Amino acid sequence: MKNILIIGGGAMGSAFSIPCLENNNRVTITEPYSKKFIKNLSSKNKFHSALKIKLPKKLRFKKFSHDLFNEKFDLIVIALSLSGIDFIGNYLDNLKIKTSILVLTKGLKYEKKKRKILTISEKFQKNYNLSNISILKGPCLAKELVRKNQTSVVIANKNINKAKQIGKMISTDYYLTEFSSDIIGIEVCSAIKNIYSMIIGAGQSLNASSNLFQKSVIEMNYLTKYFKGNGETTLSLAGVGDLYVSAAGGRNSKMGSYLGKGFTFKTAKKKFMPNDTVEGEQLAREIAPFIFKKVNKKKIPLMINLLRTVIRNKKLKIKV
Ligand SMILES: NC(=O)c1ccc[n+]([C@@H]2O[C@H](COP(=O)([O-])OP(=O)(O)OC[C@H]3O[C@@H](n4cnc5c(N)ncnc54)[C@H](O)[C@@H]3O)[C@@H](O)[C@H]2O)c1
Repeated sequence: MKNILIIGGGAMGSAFSIPCLENNNRVTITEPYSKKFIKNLSSKNKFHSALKIKLPKKLRFKKFSHDLFNEKFDLIVIALSLSGIDFIGNYLDNLKIKTSILVLTKGLKYEKKKRKILTISEKFQKNYNLSNISILKGPCLAKELVRKNQTSVVIANKNINKAKQIGKMISTDYYLTEFSSDIIGIEVCSAIKNIYSMIIGAGQSLNASSNLFQKSVIEMNYLTKYFKGNGETTLSLAGVGDLYVSAAGGRNSKMGSYLGKGFTFKTAKKKFMPNDTVEGEQLAREIAPFIFKKVNKKKIPLMINLLRTVIRNKKLKIKV
């Protein structure tokens, strides 16, 4: 039995507690940001408003505070949105945390001063002195995981044995783990698929979307190699695997479908998705300054088109 702390009580953090508990670990969840999730998790019946289920009674909820970290954990899991990454990196750095960390968050960060894109694990290591980082990505809808639908994910660490140790801790017969040492490739793919699923969603027929799917995979391969990941990782669960689930049905592809119909991003957001977080939009805003300046536009025409659509509110110009 291991002692696991999950930071982030949103849909994914809460869903992740289920295989961890089933594997006979002691699992604590904490929520640093959202009053709604704090209320859900601290309530007697632990009804989660986003997942629409009662979480297991065995799941411990603890208030997010310095005291929480006096307990000795074997694994700290980060399940916050990309916008919470600097906050938690800084917080754990101040506490000089040395515990093994597993990051579920998907996304990339742009370092304005250094004009560089960093993956989340690079950011933790370079900016916040956190070592011992593994990442877990792949096609995993939180609502399906809580129903124990079979799900496969990939855990990456430069030292693949460390990734395997975590796999042992958390996998069950419905939550299967694969392993990789290409931490950068896995992080890049799992982030940019949010943008490519918008592009695929823009297709106005299955034929058009299939064409966009194939061209998206070529661009993902180029970008993965550009950021020094392994091109083959594009074909992993974190690449085409996650691209499939996001393109088949998610908020990114839904937004893409409106862009494909000719709406501008602002109009589509206001008219159809005013309260939805579109992760692809957040990532587009984060990486656009770098991509526009540094990457060969001819190699990634779909990405450039989508970034212009989101950032400059232009109509999408790809054939859909
Ligand atoms: N690795 C995987 O298998 C997998 C699967 C699905 C989703 N995800 C990723 O997990 C992350 C969370 O997704 P989710 O579906 O749980 O989202 P969610 O909206 O349900 O939860 C978001 C979490 O981030 C916190 N948060 C939001 N803004 C914050 C801020 N500014 N500062 C601090 N905390 C903040 C929220 O309080 C909450 O805990 C996303 O990056 C998503 O891509 C990973």
